[in-house]
Amino acid sequence: MKIGLIGSGNMARAMARGWGEPVLCTDSGSGSAQGLVDELGGERVSSNRELADRADLVVLCHKPYHLDQVAQEIRDTGKPVASVLGATPTPRLQQAYPQSQVFALMPNTPVEIGQGIVVYAQREQDDEVDRALESRVLELFARLGKVVTVPERLMGPATAISGVGPAYQALLAEAQVDAAVRKGLTAQLASELVTATMSGSAALIEAKGYDTLAVRREVTSPGGSTARGLDALERANIREAFQDAIEAVVDPDGRRG
Ligand SMILES: NC(=O)c1ccc[n+]([C@@H]2O[C@H](COP(=O)([O-])OP(=O)(O)OC[C@H]3O[C@@H](n4cnc5c(N)ncnc54)[C@H](OP(=O)(O)O)[C@@H]3O)[C@@H](O)[C@H]2O)c1
Repeated sequence: MKIGLIGSGNMARAMARGWGEPVLCTDSGSGSAQGLVDELGGERVSSNRELADRADLVVLCHKPYHLDQVAQEIRDTGKPVASVLGATPTPRLQQAYPQSQVFALMPNTPVEIGQGIVVYAQREQDDEVDRALESRVLELFARLGKVVTVPERLMGPATAISGVGPAYQALLAEAQVDAAVRKGLTAQLASELVTATMSGSAALIEAKGYDTLAVRREVTSPGGSTARGLDALERANIREAFQDAIEAVVDPDGRRG
């Protein structure tokens, strides 16, 4: 399946690295498409139209507000379209691409190393979906990590934890590293300790069937140091901070406070 990426920014580059195969790609004039091709092979194509003519699957990697402009250039090719555009549900894609099979997916940046989560908006049973094509598209994205299918109405909250999640994890790591540096660890050593603890803990939580309480209890002796640390985090309202964060992502106009 020849992949054509419209847009060659952060997400396009992360996916192309994850796929590790030459792609066709475009940009809006910055030279990012050439940069992507220089790194990974493939071809910078001079127009979105030519890209759509030559690709088997067009992957929209531009910003959501360019949807109609790009669609106008290529919609009459009728080529299948996979979109990674934030906050752009399947019906909106179908409106922009009435003659195409459309698929709404939301990857996160760990796709770059084959450890991404790709959330796929489930199609209704009565939709006119080409199920064979859908399988091929999902197989392609499964090469980037794990594909999770959710109902369209839950795409917002699902992507508010997975799509933006790498930034949250990076912030959590950074805060812990900074705290440890203040106590005398080098940033390098602290970073190794924090990231290994994050990935090991994630694997342990998964192995225990996502029972986070069990994992916490196993580390927390009554009156001990972990209990004191957790208490400090609870008093700093860490749960409320994450609740605020998801509200801010899912419902930017209705933000609390
Ligand atoms: N970053 C993430 O973690 C993430 C996660 C999930 C989904 N997404 C989605 O991925 C999409 C891209 O995000 P990003 O972070 O990769 O943005 P980005 O780095 O700004 O990249 C956007 C790309 O689109 C190109 N572009 C703009 N207009 C175009 C046009 N008319 N024709 C062809 N290319 C055009 C830009 O070209 P120039 O290089 O010339 O400016 C740029 O290469 C967004 O819709 C976002 O919601 C991002």
